Amino acid sequence: MSYKLFQEIKHKIADINYAIAVLNWDQETYIPKNGNSRRAQQISTLAGMAHKLSTSKKLAKVLKKLKQDARLSLTEIKNVKLALKDYKKSKKFTTEFVMKESKAISTAFQAWIAAREADNFELYIPALTEIVNIQREKAEILGYKEHPYNALMDQFEPGATINEIDSLFKDVKEKLTPFTQEIFACEKPDNKFMFQHYEHKKQWDFGMNILAQLGFDFDSGRQDLSEHPFTTSFGVKDVRLTTRVNEENFYDMLWSCIHEGGHGLYEQGLKEEEYGMPCGEAISLGIHESQSRLYENNLGRSKAFWKANYKKLQEIFPENLSNTSFEAYYKGINLVEPSFIRTDADELTYHFHIMIRYEIEKKLIEGSIEVKDLKTIWNDAYKKYLNVDVTSDKEGVLQDVHWAHGGFGYFPTYSLGSFYAAQLFNKAKQDIPNLEAEIEAGNMDSLLAWLREKVHKHGKYFTAKEVCEKATGEALNFKYFLDYAKAKYSEIYGL
Ligand code: CO
Repeated sequence: MSYKLFQEIKHKIADINYAIAVLNWDQETYIPKNGNSRRAQQISTLAGMAHKLSTSKKLAKVLKKLKQDARLSLTEIKNVKLALKDYKKSKKFTTEFVMKESKAISTAFQAWIAAREADNFELYIPALTEIVNIQREKAEILGYKEHPYNALMDQFEPGATINEIDSLFKDVKEKLTPFTQEIFACEKPDNKFMFQHYEHKKQWDFGMNILAQLGFDFDSGRQDLSEHPFTTSFGVKDVRLTTRVNEENFYDMLWSCIHEGGHGLYEQGLKEEEYGMPCGEAISLGIHESQSRLYENNLGRSKAFWKANYKKLQEIFPENLSNTSFEAYYKGINLVEPSFIRTDADELTYHFHIMIRYEIEKKLIEGSIEVKDLKTIWNDAYKKYLNVDVTSDKEGVLQDVHWAHGGFGYFPTYSLGSFYAAQLFNKAKQDIPNLEAEIEAGNMDSLLAWLREKVHKHGKYFTAKEVCEKATGEALNFKYFLDYAKAKYSEIYGL
């Protein structure tokens, strides 16, 4: 009986949270201009209700009882354990703190917009300083071992520590840097073909066909347009993707569509019967991102994938691509070059962008640097790691919204995702001997079935580390990403 009551409470919390997700999704897609006036209030009312239920005495009581219940199944035990952890975390924050944070976030978001418009970081300093102070306070409230940044990362990647992330970025510095330097010294492949006029409707249709090919279930989800592509879910049976279409840059739609498709496939692969329960939720942002990056990079930028799709693309856009050979296309979509903007970066230099943000966040949280010096620190780091001179704040320290949202500890999950992806894809290729040939024939089913079995269906039953070890036989190892990068790019660049 108690477990049923526990489920009922968790279902209610999930109902409210998914309703919030619908409102957020609508705000990014179809809301008319004037609809925004009440939307923040509507979301905040629902968020208050969810928080009240999540911290209720009723939930505490039932969890306490279930903790002692010897009749529960292993999945039920795991759900109770993880729900108890969430409950204790929610109880640590006073309503005053939650309200203070949410106010600071809306102020910082407005300041970030204004600073970007003026291309002037100075305008952002007071609001961002307040955010950093709140994050420092938050780390103390949450509690941590060794470093306050661990507490913040734990919100997005449970159990991750700076020791592990430091060691991954040490590999990035020592092993990826010399390899990218070699690439930079080579002649660049031409990718101008991507920046011609590509008609909106034809792009959209091509993206939709790719999603269907990957195995996205359009009876349990859909794709729409938004300014910033994202994935959200209202449950396993209703997963929403968005993309954007830029008629002068085919990359924009293509990579965001495949990337969000990877996120969406993960959401559709969770267990429907675990609705609202931890074992029905994604493990962590790192694992979530491993699915999107596996599809976007390991699959979407591969030769095999384009053997299945390039001819079709040429037929749709003959005026743009009839003179571009398969080889030239493949090399062009895999151009590696230093850049200012993280979201435009290729799959190798991307990790320098993340490393720079990670180093800055860690130092801000420990208090060894201050917000007022960020612009100089940022520009120096970009010179050091990417050898570019940042001349605009908008293209530099102001480019990402994450800090305005209070998302400290989030960035490392992007790199973690790529490294997990390389390791998982390597194992999938070993486990499915014909995988490459299947992909070349446009059949992505075995890959999806493998990911469903090894990653998706478990929800939070396993931790990120456990899932990696169970799926690949070993802990996360940067070697797989490096091997993948070296094999692929040595061939492209003739190294
Ligand atoms: Co993503």
